[in-house]
Amino acid sequence: MAWRTTISTVPLTVLLIICISFPFRSDGAQKVTLQLERFEQIGGAHFVDSSQLRVRKFNRTAFVLNGTFALLTDIDGSYEGAVKVAYSNLGNNQFNEYPMKLARKRFCDMLVTEYVEYQFIWRNCTNMPYIEQGTREFCPFPKGVYWVRDLIPDASFVPRVVPTGLWRMTWMLLLPGEQVAAQFAFYFRITKEF
Ligand SMILES: *[C@@H]1O[C@H](CO)[C@@H](O)[C@H](O)[C@H]1NC(C)=O
Ligand SMILES: *[C@@H]1O[C@H](CO)[C@@H](O)[C@H](O)[C@H]1NC(C)=O
Ligand SMILES: *[C@@H]1O[C@H](CO)[C@@H](O)[C@H](O)[C@H]1NC(C)=O
Repeated sequence: MAWRTTISTVPLTVLLIICISFPFRSDGAQKVTLQLERFEQIGGAHFVDSSQLRVRKFNRTAFVLNGTFALLTDIDGSYEGAVKVAYSNLGNNQFNEYPMKLARKRFCDMLVTEYVEYQFIWRNCTNMPYIEQGTREFCPFPKGVYWVRDLIPDASFVPRVVPTGLWRMTWMLLLPGEQVAAQFAFYFRITKEF
């Protein structure tokens, strides 16, 4: 989860970019809710073991990200990160990639930008590093065992015009060249209350 953890920061940016790029008609919704459905790691078992990290039912209405993940190697400046987003209009797991994404960039650069910007979302629910605003360099993201406890993503960053439905946000950890080291996919549902 190294990356996932680390990368977790990006999602918000991606959603914001989506909203700005695609002016969906405003529907007057009062409140946007983000409900986690599932998390999965694709590949990269020798970088990250996230098999103990799950989306769990917290109570009648809330789902949380919970568990531990082991980052098996330092994620240093030789790694890159990227995020892509897909949307399932019918909620039937047929996803269309959105053209917008967070383009790949040096992973350690993400740590002092997007990670810092969005760490409020996981700050109180994990032992992942807290990076002070204004930090110029934070590298590597250290290997270790990290826990995430009862994390309910704050949906306040999601613009009201975002379409409801099933979303998939994929954080990618890449090695130089085109090689994808690992991917972490978060599935979540956006709903609105009127
Ligand atoms: C989250 O994990 C903690 C620690 O393992 C556990 O006590 C708690 O019950 C879990 N929460 C859910 C909703 O499963
Ligand atoms: C479920 O837990 C969340 C987070 O603590 C809380 O805001 C919500 O009111 C709870 N819902 C119910 C039905 O207890
Ligand atoms: C984290 O917890 C501290 C101390 O309880 C609180 O002041 C702060 O607002 C919390 N931050 C977030 C993002 O919830």
